[in-house]
Amino acid sequence: MKLNIAVLPGDGVGPEVTREAVRVLRAVSDFCGYDFKFEESPIGGGAALEFGLPFPGHTRERCLASSAVLLGAVGGPQFDSLSNEQRPEAGLLALRNACGCFANLRPAIAFESIAECSPLRPERIRGANILLVRELLGGLYFGEPRAIDVEGKQAFNTMRYTEHEIERVARVAFRLAERRSKKVVSVDKANVLETSRYWRQIVTRVATEFPEVTLEHALVDSFAMNVITYPTRYDVVLTENLFGDILSDETAVIAGSLGMLPSASIGGKIDLYEPIHGSAPDIAGKGIANPIGAIGSAGMLLRHTAKLYAEADSVQIAIEAVLKSGLRTADLLPASERSKACSTETMGKRIAEATVEALNSRMAYFAV
Ligand code: IPM
Ligand code: MN
Repeated sequence: MKLNIAVLPGDGVGPEVTREAVRVLRAVSDFCGYDFKFEESPIGGGAALEFGLPFPGHTRERCLASSAVLLGAVGGPQFDSLSNEQRPEAGLLALRNACGCFANLRPAIAFESIAECSPLRPERIRGANILLVRELLGGLYFGEPRAIDVEGKQAFNTMRYTEHEIERVARVAFRLAERRSKKVVSVDKANVLETSRYWRQIVTRVATEFPEVTLEHALVDSFAMNVITYPTRYDVVLTENLFGDILSDETAVIAGSLGMLPSASIGGKIDLYEPIHGSAPDIAGKGIANPIGAIGSAGMLLRHTAKLYAEADSVQIAIEAVLKSGLRTADLLPASERSKACSTETMGKRIAEATVEALNSRMAYFAV
């Protein structure tokens, strides 16, 4: 198995957490005798300052020639004065667009061992396992025209969805639901928006291709309330770009910390893997960020791009085992206990070791 992974550490805590994700992938590659290669390229505010663009041409070429892209995070207050085209976020959007990955999978699992990290009551979140499927290349993020019209003293963005854009992401959600609890909730604002009424119509039609899966529609405002009130009611959640951005930060509350959530963006030419958290400038460079979102993203790379299911499962098993052992980064501890927090690196090393242990015990189990 050969993989040539484009690593884009980016800004803020991006490099710290990405290093640990790469550590885990290297451990898998070494243990299993695979040939994983890693090549780093610049992206985000740092790239804009050095090369004039947040997604330079050479980074783009590297990504398009790779098996998959592993990204850290972009952004930070020091880049606020950059022009619109130079903004770090513009680089990330250009990367997603170049890769063509339109389906962004954002799983949020409430691990029992860190149930106390969520402000929600443990009995509410116990067993919650939500897979949010966010449309990633359409809607307000990319719709034209868009502008700040200084003379007209107005600003506008365009929400637009084509049949094709809705169909393709809906199919991804239904296919995933077939392998899970066979339920999809599609979230929209069909009581107000035409784009949502059209979304609902197309998703309803796509659902007929998947007779085993039940489809429910929900309005985004009431869904936002229900998902944190009754997290275990939901499984696969399908939604458009901006709603998905907002709701995935909300589902992170169920998982206990934003630092826990991984993501995979699939369906295009090149798959892209990134934790859902941002660059966390307040803690950048301190070596205390939680790398589990980034490591989980590496696990998703093993599953979705490499189709190495046993290896992907091992990463997940390792994350759970290390949390169960009591190891905690600062975000997983109450303020009064932060002195007991481990570093980003310690968390990464322990998960890498536990991944190898999980692979090892699996081999021992089958070597009868
Ligand atoms: C995310 C982020 C990005 C988004 C930003 C950084 C452009 O918030 O991945 O959720 O809005 O998609
Ligand atoms: Mn976001």
